[in-house]
Amino acid sequence: MQNYRRDAVRKLIDKLSEKHRLSREEWSLLIESQGEREYLFRRARELSRQYYGNKVFTRGLIEFTNYCKNNCYYCGIRRDNKEAVRYRLTLEEIMDCCSQGYELGFRTFVLQGGEDGFYTDDKIVEIIQEIKDRYPDCALTLSMGERENDSYLRFYKTGADRYLLRHETADSRHYAKLHPPELSFKHRMDCLWNLKEIGYQVGCGFMVGSPGQTKETLAEDMLFITELQPDMVGIGPFIPHHSTPFAEEIQGSLEQTLYLLGLLRLLKPNLLLPATTALGTIDPKGREKGILAGANVVMPNLSPVGVRKKYELYDNKICTGDEAAECRQCLGRRMEAIGYELAVDRGDPVNCPREAVNRKIE
Ligand code: SAM
Ligand code: FES
Repeated sequence: MQNYRRDAVRKLIDKLSEKHRLSREEWSLLIESQGEREYLFRRARELSRQYYGNKVFTRGLIEFTNYCKNNCYYCGIRRDNKEAVRYRLTLEEIMDCCSQGYELGFRTFVLQGGEDGFYTDDKIVEIIQEIKDRYPDCALTLSMGERENDSYLRFYKTGADRYLLRHETADSRHYAKLHPPELSFKHRMDCLWNLKEIGYQVGCGFMVGSPGQTKETLAEDMLFITELQPDMVGIGPFIPHHSTPFAEEIQGSLEQTLYLLGLLRLLKPNLLLPATTALGTIDPKGREKGILAGANVVMPNLSPVGVRKKYELYDNKICTGDEAAECRQCLGRRMEAIGYELAVDRGDPVNCPREAVNRKIE
């Protein structure tokens, strides 16, 4: 890279780590350049350490249903994928997952699934009650897509602490390329704002390299995240699934995902930022590289081994053949090898001085 260009990129990285926001044009420039990577990752690691030390937080993921009424073009559990072998976990099976997870030291459970009408609000409330009664010291995260505000409120009052709902893209035209017309960009965004308003710790996020994504749509994502100020942002590469409309599309890149992880750490230093399973799927050391780029969360799978292959969002998903204990140990070793330690506590977000986060560009 020519010197003047390198200096310009460094200046933007410095500005982001001081002000925690950039203009649309600045974001586009930085995202396009993908330059000064080591400089960015070093800064991202420093900030992560400043807030969270060398801890990597774990969230035990329970994939409780792969039925889904939606038809997102990218997703392997979309309703039109007739190849998918569908399953639902019973309350007892979910509680078994939690019990195993608790033994292994997990203090956060994430209930994730397709949008499955079988699990009415009453059923979800029952599951939340059971988990919170038995494990009052654990945080419970829900990730079950779009529901009405009343339902979100009821779940929160029952004891759910966190909600993950990736916004997928903050650009409405791009959203329409990834989803069929019956899915509404506005509704998804409204859900996120409502969840935040209710008091949940909120997570949004997007796939890196999804079809139609550009530096401009990514800049929009960064502006949206600056505005929403979520507690968590989940990003991972888009990976094609063979029986979806996007089967022939190109996979998202490791390099771009790592770069965006670094930028997100600078955007919000106290962010909970997972090194996702998708990242581990496209590169054998993907999750370690993610942590070294600024991520600080891993989400090992607690689902029963018998259903893991069925929760196939994309091709070649890793960790589908291992028991929960193997996953826990494997991740522990992987994190130790790069100088980090798997944390067993709830891993709530630490407070960042608001003035630092909200300061406007002079
Ligand atoms: N139904 C819930 C929802 O919509 O939030 C949670 C489950 S959904 C399958 C979880 C996430 O998986 C999606 O938000 C999407 O970003 C990701 N995902 C789906 N298909 C993918 C693919 N082909 N490659 C990478 N990530 C994918
Ligand atoms: Fe599941 Fe390594 S994290 S086997």
